[in-house]
Amino acid sequence: MTLRDWLNGCALARVDALALLRELAGVDHATVLAHPLRALDAAARQRLDAAAARLRDGEPLAYVLGWREFHGLRLQVNPAVLVPRPDTELLVDFVLQRYAAGDAPNLLDLGTGSGAIAVSLAHALPAARVWAVDASAAALEVAQANARALLPPARAPLRLLQGDWLAALPADAPRFDCIVSNPPYVAAGDPHLPALRHEPSLALVGAQPSADGLADLRRIVRDAPAHLSRGGWLALEHGHDQARAVRALLAARGLQQVHSLKDLAGIARVSAGRLGSGAMPPRNATRNGIWQTS
Ligand SMILES: C[S@@+](CC[C@H](N)C(=O)[O-])C[C@H]1O[C@@H](n2cnc3c(N)ncnc32)[C@H](O)[C@@H]1O
Repeated sequence: MTLRDWLNGCALARVDALALLRELAGVDHATVLAHPLRALDAAARQRLDAAAARLRDGEPLAYVLGWREFHGLRLQVNPAVLVPRPDTELLVDFVLQRYAAGDAPNLLDLGTGSGAIAVSLAHALPAARVWAVDASAAALEVAQANARALLPPARAPLRLLQGDWLAALPADAPRFDCIVSNPPYVAAGDPHLPALRHEPSLALVGAQPSADGLADLRRIVRDAPAHLSRGGWLALEHGHDQARAVRALLAARGLQQVHSLKDLAGIARVSAGRLGSGAMPPRNATRNGIWQTS
C-alpha cells in the first residue's frame, strides 16, 4: 500500500491523517507531497490503522498520540486528564502579564489535570512557588510526569496535592498572589457531552453535575478569596455563556476590578477579580462567612 492509498482510504480529516503519518510512520507532509507512491511497510500500516480506528470512534488525537502542545510545551496526556485547550492559555497569560521572569509569587492552580497551567507557570517563572490541586490521583500522576519532564531539575518542585478544591491545602499553605482554575463547567445534559465522552466526566461536569454548570465555580469563588494575599487575583475559566454569571459571583464575594478576558474568537472565557487592600478574609470563616474589602 502506498502513502496515497492509505491517505485516501483512512476516512479521516486530512490534518489528522497527516499527524498520524508523521508521528506513527515518521513520514512528514513534504514527503507525502513529493513521494505519494512510497510504500508503507506492514508494521507502520498496522499502527496507522489502529490509530485511525480510535480517531473515527471520536477519541481525541491527543490521546492517540499521547501528547498535546500547550503554551509552547509538549505535555503528556492520557484519558485520565482533560486534553488541554488553547483557550486555557488565556489563564496562563493572565498570570504571566503580572510578573517578570525573576519574580517569586505564590501561585495556585485548582483542578490541574495534566498540569497544563501549573507546569506552564512554573516553566515561565522559575522562582515562583507553584501549588496545584486535583481530586483525581490518576490526573496528578500525569501532572507529576509533565513536571519531571519539562521543568529543570534545579527548579523547586511543584507542590501537587490531591483533594477537594481549597480543602486540599494544608493549614500552613501560604496566601497566594494568584489563584487560577479551569474547573468543570459543562452543564449536565449539555448537547456537546456525547462528543466529549472519551474525556473524564470529573473534568467536564464535576462530581456533582449542575443544571447551569456553575456548581464548582460557585464553590471556588466562595472559598478561594480566603487564600489570597492582599491584592491577589482569582482568575477562572468558564463557558462561553457564563461570563456574566461568574463576574456576578466574583463581585458578590467582594472582589474588585472584576472583568472578563476574551479568547481569539472574541468570546469572554476567563473572568477575574482581585482582593482589595483592606481587611483580609479569615481563612476559617469563609464557608458561610461574609467579609468586606475596602
Ligand atoms: C476542566 S479540567 C482542567 C484540567 C487542566 N487544568 C486544564 O486546563 O487542561 C478540571 C480538573 O478539575 C479536577 N476536579 C474536578 N472536581 C474537583 C474537585 N472537587 N477538587 C479538585 N479538583 C477537581 C478534575 O479532575 C480535572 O482535572
